Amino acid sequence: MILDTIEAISTRFSCRAFNGKLPPDEDLDVIAKAAAASPSGMNRQSWRIIVLKNKELLADLEAEGMKNLAAYPDKGIYERIMSRGGKLYYNAPCMMIIPIGVSAPGGAELFDCGIVAENIALSSAALGINSLICGLSAFSFSGERGMEFKTRLGFPEAYEIGIAVLLGYAENPDGKPHEPDVSKISWIV
Ligand SMILES: Cc1cc2nc3c(=O)[nH]c(=O)nc-3n(C[C@H](O)[C@H](O)[C@H](O)COP(=O)(O)O)c2cc1C
Repeated sequence: MILDTIEAISTRFSCRAFNGKLPPDEDLDVIAKAAAASPSGMNRQSWRIIVLKNKELLADLEAEGMKNLAAYPDKGIYERIMSRGGKLYYNAPCMMIIPIGVSAPGGAELFDCGIVAENIALSSAALGINSLICGLSAFSFSGERGMEFKTRLGFPEAYEIGIAVLLGYAENPDGKPHEPDVSKISWIV
């Protein structure tokens, strides 16, 4: 099954309960290459795309992220995750991690990184794979084990976590995205 672009955009939703089944490598390869095809400011491409399938490392990252979240002064985020079952990575069997080069003044790395994440989410949706763009993945790298994880994952020198996208299959494949608020659109003619 391959959805067209508009259908993939309108059916993609944030999956917060994966069934643990791993997508095939051929699909992950298509998705990773769609990520690498993202546009970037001045074509800098100052990112990496790390396809992480290793269960132990995923679990280690999740445990460290939860530990750092629990210690974070804003308890609201931690409580929100706890109320959703206490899992930062929602049983996802795969995660694409996007480290980015440290921003120069006026740099567009964060925009670039967002586009990479969306290319991953949309190409996944087109292939029938569910996803969650996971900003809270930064907490896996924010504590004392941050450098250890960057090394184990092969981050280049001076690269920081940009974002990660969780991938797999939803326990409920009929999940729905947010209702688009079309009142935010205005036309001036
Ligand atoms: C940059 C970004 C970071 C996000 N980080 C998280 C996250 O860490 N955890 C989470 O559960 N959802 C995260 N989300 C998902 C949003 O909550 C979700 O996109 C929003 O609620 C709309 O729902 P939908 O994606 O199903 O349409 C993130 C989304 C974006 C775009």
